[in-house]
Amino acid sequence: MLVYEILRKKLDGELNTKEEIFRLVNGYVFGEVTPEQMAAWLAAVYIRGMSDEEVWWLTEAMAKSGRMVNLSEIEGIKVDKHSTGGVGDKVSIVVVPLVASSGVPVAKLTGRALGHTGGTADKLESIPNIRLDLSEKEFVSQVRRIGCAIAVATEDIAPADKKIYALRDKTATIASIPLIVSSILSKKLAGGADAFVFDVKFGDGAFIRKLEDAQKLAEGLVKTAKLAGKKAVAIISSMEQPLGHAIGNAIEVVEAIEVLKGKGPEDVRELCLEIAAQMLWLGGVVTNSKEGKSKAMELLNSGAALEKFRDLIIAQGGDAKIIDQPEKLPQPSCKVEVRSGQSGVISAIATRELGLIAGQMGAGRIVDEKVDPAAGIIVMKKIGDFVNYDETIAILQSNKPIVNDLVVKVRACFKFGEGVKKPPILAGFVG
Ligand code: URA
Repeated sequence: MLVYEILRKKLDGELNTKEEIFRLVNGYVFGEVTPEQMAAWLAAVYIRGMSDEEVWWLTEAMAKSGRMVNLSEIEGIKVDKHSTGGVGDKVSIVVVPLVASSGVPVAKLTGRALGHTGGTADKLESIPNIRLDLSEKEFVSQVRRIGCAIAVATEDIAPADKKIYALRDKTATIASIPLIVSSILSKKLAGGADAFVFDVKFGDGAFIRKLEDAQKLAEGLVKTAKLAGKKAVAIISSMEQPLGHAIGNAIEVVEAIEVLKGKGPEDVRELCLEIAAQMLWLGGVVTNSKEGKSKAMELLNSGAALEKFRDLIIAQGGDAKIIDQPEKLPQPSCKVEVRSGQSGVISAIATRELGLIAGQMGAGRIVDEKVDPAAGIIVMKKIGDFVNYDETIAILQSNKPIVNDLVVKVRACFKFGEGVKKPPILAGFVG
């Protein structure tokens, strides 16, 4: 089949076959399909959409374009979770050891900070000496030994997605649900788990702004994962404000440890319990998610989840003393408090902007490639909180000088208004 004919079919609104989609994806990876041809096909998908089978074939082709992690030596149902990314999202640091402490194995490949969103790999790397560059052998053997591992996803995981994503970015075809579903799921399938919980975020700090679009993405992810023969559910959660108080790396690890100690901010705790409950249910240790939630609470309250996190840090070469002595984590040379400057109730927080500012201060890769583990923002007040004009609404920290311009920008991220309610963290479920 000519590539020309594959494109013509999609442009004319016809369906592509599995063979055609594999031909296109592999051809693009190996340079036989040109960027112009691929761009035309992506634009056609953007406008015409894809059938459920086409989305699955595209996902499969991209997953199989690189290394497929083999977890078959690990006994039990391997459950993974994926977040579509947000500001202050430290959920993986909590739920991986939490779920593993129940006996459900969790083998997690994770990413780095991107744009205004943080990355679990960067956050964990603030723990002195920890290694996230595990080989597949080390990764699998650690999960067999202690029940969990977190490693950074290498370049050979779904390389077709990287190449296609870069082209989508240049051709304004990112915002297509079938393309997003196959991009996310191809990387997850290559990670080798049997079951997935997706945390699809919406709101100002999320990649998807509108709740209805998050709902469509959640449905697409669950449907396609099921076509791939996997168990899957999705939770839709709000990113209208940062998750918890900490945005950064070391400070997010501290907050995650607080949650593992049975404390921590209510929104982080609630989201972690919900995701863990679904993972425990998919992993087969409870018969429904309500039981899963009680089990997850029990694992937090008994200290089992925290001990599993200690095991994980030690297994990956890190200094587990940070659990009891968080001051051993990297500390900033510079800290500045941001005062409100007005009295009233906070009605909105420019979350994406806060994520970008944290990134600029060194928490992400916006200015330098090298991340400053101590940099970040502690958000002291959230939506629905009353503040006096001289109260601290945020604390900025960095190893670079913090200029007044940043203080002004952070203050402007907090909006004030009347009749405001605290937004719920959980907004939907797709099962
Ligand atoms: N995240 C991904 O991994 N892929 C997309 O297409 C969008 C967000």
